[in-house]
Amino acid sequence: MNHKIRLGILGGGGDSLIGVVHRIAAHMFDYYQIVGGCFNPNPDENKKFAAHIGIPAARVYSSFDVLIEEELKLSKEERMQVVSILTPNFLHFPMAKKLLENGFNIICEKPLTTSHAEALELQAIQDQKQVVFAVTYTYTGYPMVRQMKQMIADGAIGAVQKVDLQYYQGWINPVIHHAEQRKSVWRLDPEKGGISCCIGDIGTHAFDMLEYATNMRVKTILADLNYRYPDNEMDVDGTILVRFSDYCKGVLRVSQIATAEENNFTVQIYGEKGSLKWAQENPNYLNFLQEGKPQQQLKPGHDYLSRFSLEGTKLPPGHPEGLFDAMGNIYSGVAKAILGQDFINGAYPDLEEGVRGMLFIEKVIESHKNGNVWVNL
Ligand SMILES: NC(=O)c1ccc[n+]([C@@H]2O[C@H](COP(=O)([O-])OP(=O)(O)OC[C@H]3O[C@@H](n4cnc5c(N)ncnc54)[C@H](O)[C@@H]3O)[C@@H](O)[C@H]2O)c1
Repeated sequence: MNHKIRLGILGGGGDSLIGVVHRIAAHMFDYYQIVGGCFNPNPDENKKFAAHIGIPAARVYSSFDVLIEEELKLSKEERMQVVSILTPNFLHFPMAKKLLENGFNIICEKPLTTSHAEALELQAIQDQKQVVFAVTYTYTGYPMVRQMKQMIADGAIGAVQKVDLQYYQGWINPVIHHAEQRKSVWRLDPEKGGISCCIGDIGTHAFDMLEYATNMRVKTILADLNYRYPDNEMDVDGTILVRFSDYCKGVLRVSQIATAEENNFTVQIYGEKGSLKWAQENPNYLNFLQEGKPQQQLKPGHDYLSRFSLEGTKLPPGHPEGLFDAMGNIYSGVAKAILGQDFINGAYPDLEEGVRGMLFIEKVIESHKNGNVWVNL
């Protein structure tokens, strides 16, 4: 008998960016079996793609409503246990709400919803249902990010006093200068993307990473956004000052018009005793700086690392692991939670992190639109 966790997928079809990352991640530790889904709103594309990845026709559904209705008719032993939501942002809330109400565990892409109010509504339902709810801030799954989190918690750099996170992409630059082309990008359409493009898409990764790595909560922010053209409603660039306290401050610098940048996400955390630096494009290196000592470069898979980091590494040192593996670690954490096994705090980003992300996005827009003022989170 197959004891794998039965996973359903919404979105993430053959035409998508993130679908393949989730499918590979789900199979990585042999915890899951993909049993069905609705991968594409176009019925032909949906069926074609499902057949391509070997999903039986009976469990290829025309919409998420039909998926929930039909799955509920199956016995508990057959029914999907967890559903991954990999669609454009505006669909996350209605899908997650209905899945939650019907007792499914959920893995949802970020940003969680299109408003903080929706996110709070999901949290209220989850409080009652007690299902597992993960929000895939993928970068938290990297072994060296987990090492950074553990080292900061263990006091390796002392009290944090300065933070600097940069997330620069350039992919919107070729699109933004043409009003017609802009319309073809759902992330630049408020009806599909929500109230923000750049902050919602990548600023939220930086914000989550900051709170995840430091185990601290940002108290106030001040944002300056760039929309690039008066007729473009969605931000494509921003600089956000953050304060944890009067004595611990920093900056999030994010852009999708940083011309020709790829996925240049860097994290720099400075403490009173030392500093930690990590860069997404070279994720297998964590730089540890201490005054008066040579800089150390930590790498995955070594005995000197924390258990949390080592759990996320599958191969001996020197075999590079990357984004798929980071997502695989998150799926592994979710599987342990679903199966009632022990897992380390932070093994998957949870609903609370998704809700914080939505609060952050709304407050950034509020700060900018009110004349670049400080606002409390
Ligand atoms: N965690 C990360 O690092 C990361 C990276 C990329 C994207 N994302 C997030 O993942 C989500 C999807 O982004 P993407 O870049 O893959 O988008 P995409 O446009 O490339 O793909 C979206 C997919 O959803 C499908 N879809 C659309 N409407 C649907 C519906 N009604 N029912 C079922 N399927 C439907 C599309 O056919 C497509 O397969 C977004 O929320 C985005 O923010 C996260």
